[in-house]
Amino acid sequence: MVDFLQVMLGVTLLLIVICFVWKRPVPIFENLQGKHVLITGGSSGIGLEIAKEVLAQGCYATLVARNRSRLLKAVEEILEEVKCNRDRIDIKVADVSDYRAVFVAVNEAFEWKPIDILVCNAGLAYSSYLDKMHVEEIDLTIGTNLTGTVYTLNVALPLMKQRSNLHPSAVVLMGSLSSMYVLYGHALYTATKYAMRGLAEALRLELLPFNIKVTHVCPGFVDTPMLRNIEGEVPHFPVFELPSSA
Ligand SMILES: NC(=O)c1ccc[n+]([C@@H]2O[C@H](COP(=O)([O-])OP(=O)(O)OC[C@H]3O[C@@H](n4cnc5c(N)ncnc54)[C@H](OP(=O)(O)O)[C@@H]3O)[C@@H](O)[C@H]2O)c1
Repeated sequence: MVDFLQVMLGVTLLLIVICFVWKRPVPIFENLQGKHVLITGGSSGIGLEIAKEVLAQGCYATLVARNRSRLLKAVEEILEEVKCNRDRIDIKVADVSDYRAVFVAVNEAFEWKPIDILVCNAGLAYSSYLDKMHVEEIDLTIGTNLTGTVYTLNVALPLMKQRSNLHPSAVVLMGSLSSMYVLYGHALYTATKYAMRGLAEALRLELLPFNIKVTHVCPGFVDTPMLRNIEGEVPHFPVFELPSSA
């Protein structure tokens, strides 16, 4: 009886060890040293913090945004906070909802250094019930959060695919908690972030053979200029509601 229990215990322990080794997540990159990261919306908030982090880890970074002076201010802030040479940072003025501008920015960035990690982060939110939104706000929200991400991917992926079999690459799509739960009072924003989830899940399969990993990041509330712009305009209760299909 004891023998049988000992054998079972041994087998169980062996299975646990095998599962642990088998399931251990394999990092895409050994380290980030020398990688080129392009971040849309890199001049502020979450995008700027990502830029600081990757630069601190030895990356090159291209920051893309619409406003040149904010981009230059972001570079100053990075240089104050992170020990890195100015020549590891490039900026591109581009509106991601403008295909031509995205095409030029991404191609120039690729010529500077092939892109290893593409962070589609540019995004905005207008705090309003859908029927109260102005048409310009509707266009800007969809144009930046959805179309802008699609344009960036459409331009960058063919370039990334050319080398990704030899150089593992990654795409990061900036979602939100509202990629999974309804953000009350922000129907359109929620719709664009649900779209990020669909895009990420489909691309994860499509890009698997090309050695390009896809990550969908879903932050909760982060204290950034975007959040401050919408605070207080729409009732925050209930903040998140479970989707009806859940
Ligand atoms: N803050 C939060 O609580 C929170 C939570 C979850 C997810 N997120 C997501 O995180 C991302 C970043 O948000 P954030 O809070 O960091 O906002 P933020 O501080 O306002 O930064 C937005 C960045 O996007 C750029 N941008 C906006 N529209 C653009 C466009 N059409 N073309 C190119 N760049 C554009 C902005 O620069 P310019 O204005 O100069 O273009 C800025 O660099 C967004 O996708 C947002 O949905 C935020």
